[in-house]
Amino acid sequence: MSPRILMCPPDHYGIEYEINPWMNRSMSSVRDLAFKQWRALRDAIVSLGVRVEEMVPVAGLPDLVFTANAGLMFHNKFFSSQFKHDVRAKESPHFDAWFAKNGFEVHHWPSGMYHEGAGDALFCGNALFAGYRTRSDVHAHQWLAEQIGMQVLPVELVNTRFYHLDTCFCPLAPGLALYHPEAFDDYGQKVIRSNVNTLISVCEPEAWRFGCNAVVVGKSVIHNAGCPQLARDLTKIGYQSIEVELDEFLKAGGSAKCLTLRLDGEEAAGWKCS
Ligand code: ARG
Repeated sequence: MSPRILMCPPDHYGIEYEINPWMNRSMSSVRDLAFKQWRALRDAIVSLGVRVEEMVPVAGLPDLVFTANAGLMFHNKFFSSQFKHDVRAKESPHFDAWFAKNGFEVHHWPSGMYHEGAGDALFCGNALFAGYRTRSDVHAHQWLAEQIGMQVLPVELVNTRFYHLDTCFCPLAPGLALYHPEAFDDYGQKVIRSNVNTLISVCEPEAWRFGCNAVVVGKSVIHNAGCPQLARDLTKIGYQSIEVELDEFLKAGGSAKCLTLRLDGEEAAGWKCS
């Protein structure tokens, strides 16, 4: 199956509220630049043989571009996010409609649980790594574990700058991942180290450039520009590093991975799992 990714053009993207430490309403985004950067990301993804599906952007939903937070994909099931903040919860009906229309089974968490989808839950090897505290809660991860019958490894996110798991952890292959250790407490670091054989540490300045927030397609990794050490480390292990300037999206606390949602096979044995 050829890889397939969901994106949403930034027609209505902007910094209209502040729900993470990166966002500052006085730093408005530059529309043309946001478009240029988003298109460069889409083109880089397409050039790797991925089919990119585009959602219709909606006025009044500036963060709809961050499709990673739509929900969590598991085979044909789409677990629709239960957002912590009301401003983002308004995105869910649009995501649900897209997934239903495109033939996926739409599921919801029980009320009272928060989960922000693929932003906080990433498959690596035989486990689903699950970030909690700021946006998703541990009960929501446990509920998901029962639904999908997979081992879920909750790790606490202790630095508010790294408020979603995909800002500080990025699986590359079974037993291989990027991470920024300081985003986790000692226990979380231990969980990651004991379940992932080879870890590449992303240094602080590059983690602040969202180096961990990368799109992985086979042995190619698309990440924000300005991460030279990461680019060298990837090359050393036989991966291709592709840099795309995404600074307009850093203003909202997002980068390459946040702007995408893998629709096929992230969970399937053989892709990221051994
Ligand atoms: N402004 C958005 C928020 O705070 C950014 C989301 C970034 N997404 C991600 N998967 N890390 O919710």
